[in-house]
Amino acid sequence: MEYFLEIYGRVPRAGPGSFACTKQAFELMSEVPNEPYILDIGCGPGVQTVDLLKICRGRVLALDFLPLMLERTRANAEVANVAERLEVIELDMAQMAFSPACFDVVWSEGAIYNLGFENGLRAVRGFVKPGGYVAVSEAVWLKADPPAPVAKFWEAYPEIDTIENKLSVIDQLGYEQTAHFVLPETTWTAEYYDPMEKWVATKSTEWAGNAGALAVLEEARNEIAIFRKYSRYYSYGFFVMRRPNV
Ligand SMILES: C[S@@+](CC[C@H](N)C(=O)[O-])C[C@H]1O[C@@H](n2cnc3c(N)ncnc32)[C@H](O)[C@@H]1O
Repeated sequence: MEYFLEIYGRVPRAGPGSFACTKQAFELMSEVPNEPYILDIGCGPGVQTVDLLKICRGRVLALDFLPLMLERTRANAEVANVAERLEVIELDMAQMAFSPACFDVVWSEGAIYNLGFENGLRAVRGFVKPGGYVAVSEAVWLKADPPAPVAKFWEAYPEIDTIENKLSVIDQLGYEQTAHFVLPETTWTAEYYDPMEKWVATKSTEWAGNAGALAVLEEARNEIAIFRKYSRYYSYGFFVMRRPNV
């Protein structure tokens, strides 16, 4: 975990994403209040948390179970001068027990899979106000029959599925579909794999001779190489949905 965090926890983002995509998803929520209260689940280093604070005048409660991530989120918010509207909570998302209907928006970029897409969307339904929104990004297949190295890599993330199956889960849980879109390839590289690749190169000298650490570097190299070769097979989908206003 120590070496994993030293690689995956030190790059600007902890998953694919961009300001443009966060803004696009936010703007799909046509009836959000002027100053929404937003829960950001699995905030990581808080890039999208800060983006949300810049995009609207609301408050964000950023949740993660790793203190390092919450420290980075707070530091990023301070640099962006939005920290007065940020709250953070160190909590396992499996233990969330917020008051019913207390958020206007529940947000989660690349993190809800930790609860499972279906379980996660079911868990947050009660926290969001009737008429409020839930926006999550989640791994999706773009093409059927991925080549063996791609299928093998994604075995570790069994929540990846087709967009159609994700949409059908959203329907079955009783949400109204607002819209969805696929994250472009640059969202994986600009703030995630490109800086990670440089960081891996730096660390491979520093960690020479440390088998456990080198195994983490090899995993990261493999993940990046698979993406560079096969990105047409998978990406993240951004799914925006609404709790019915009844
Ligand atoms: C893939 S990262 C995405 C982070 C961020 N949203 C982003 O897009 O950069 C997933 C985040 O979820 C957090 N996480 C994973 N399991 C969790 C759990 N059970 N409870 C709370 N946070 C969790 C991790 O610490 C990590 O910061």
